[in-house]
Amino acid sequence: MDCFQYRNGVLHAEDISLVSIAEQYGTPCYVYSRTAIEQQWRTFDRALTAYPHLICYAVKANSNLAVLNTLAQLGAGFDIVSGGELERVLHAGGQANKIVFSGVGKTIAEMQRALELGIFCFNVESEAELFRLNDVAGKMGKRAPVSLRVNPDVDAKTHPYISTGMKKNKFGIDIALAPLVYATAAQLPHIEVTGVDCHIGSQLTEITPFIDAAQRVMQLVATLKQQGIELKHVDFGGGLGVQYDAETPPSVVEYAQALQAILGNAPYQIVFEPGRVIVANAGILLTKVEYLKQTPEKHFAIVDAAMNDLIRPALYSAWQAVSPVIPREDISSQEYDIVGPICETGDFLAKDRNLSLQPDDLLAIRSAGAYGFAMSSNYNSRPRVAEIMVQGAECRVIRQRENVADLWALERIW
Ligand code: LLP
Repeated sequence: MDCFQYRNGVLHAEDISLVSIAEQYGTPCYVYSRTAIEQQWRTFDRALTAYPHLICYAVKANSNLAVLNTLAQLGAGFDIVSGGELERVLHAGGQANKIVFSGVGKTIAEMQRALELGIFCFNVESEAELFRLNDVAGKMGKRAPVSLRVNPDVDAKTHPYISTGMKKNKFGIDIALAPLVYATAAQLPHIEVTGVDCHIGSQLTEITPFIDAAQRVMQLVATLKQQGIELKHVDFGGGLGVQYDAETPPSVVEYAQALQAILGNAPYQIVFEPGRVIVANAGILLTKVEYLKQTPEKHFAIVDAAMNDLIRPALYSAWQAVSPVIPREDISSQEYDIVGPICETGDFLAKDRNLSLQPDDLLAIRSAGAYGFAMSSNYNSRPRVAEIMVQGAECRVIRQRENVADLWALERIW
């Protein structure tokens, strides 16, 4: 169920009107539906009941403490890529033993902290990282649980910036070389080989790349078994797409069924690292029209949110739906580019949208719960916006709007 719906002509977040949120907290702000996050997580969890499984929410998609805590309460694990994400998860009530640590550039300090806490697994992306981890664990008198992230050379057919599973990408270990690297890993005294993982990209809208990758990974698992290396878990990463426009991504259930055909009754714990599919459609960016501007070429709606608040349209040419909070019928519609106040031509949130607008109208940029606030910045000295969470008729600020003094709080005049 979509938790952002019109009631009596006004767009609501669950039971709360977005007009009242704008009045109370100001714009721009992100608004998340806690119910939607819970629903998505439960859908994912239920689809996998056939297997012992661990769902590690990819923290990078939305790392607000309240979001992490909502998921921790449901029993989620977490996929992290930095020491910062690790501390966030703990602070939000997540369990260390349900954390997988991904990423190509783990530092010694990050490894030490994760070993000290006893995380579920390090997703190791290179031989160099493997040797470093063996060294760090050895000095601490520990053995590091390791999965090798393999690169299955599959085209995820998504935007090139978020495609990760091809030979030309920096991620993972070439699947053809993996048996050798596993053999090395198995010899290292402070490494405990526990699994294998892959992540081929994000916002996948077709099932075939997932299937191809899973088949290749399971072939590798069989080869390793012959080599005498028995794994405990197989991690298929994240990447399941969501509907922003007219895409028809596979559902979690379809995905799980397709995997079932490949896995049979394989005795492995299955791990996933979903990010976007859990939170994207659980959030909107609420913004207000400041000015309407007409040039000989175009109509612009200049809004109070900008590319620093939501960079996806500028960075990936991403399309996100724009909904008027109170749709107008009193004036005719125009094609608008929805742009922000930042001094860059790339500062747009949407292009060529047919809307009926007046200054002060509120707009909801949809599907903004994933990679929205998490990728925001202070560019143009714009304080980062507030984040609001709604559940039913209850509404809380889960991150205050920054004020201007926050902008230079860490700076010193020479
Ligand atoms: N696991 C690993 C190792 C990843 O690198 C990622 C995402 C995920 C899991 C989660 O993928 P998801 O289920 O969210 O697709 N900023 C981009 C997306 C970058 C994704 C990076 N890695 C965007 O806004 O579209």
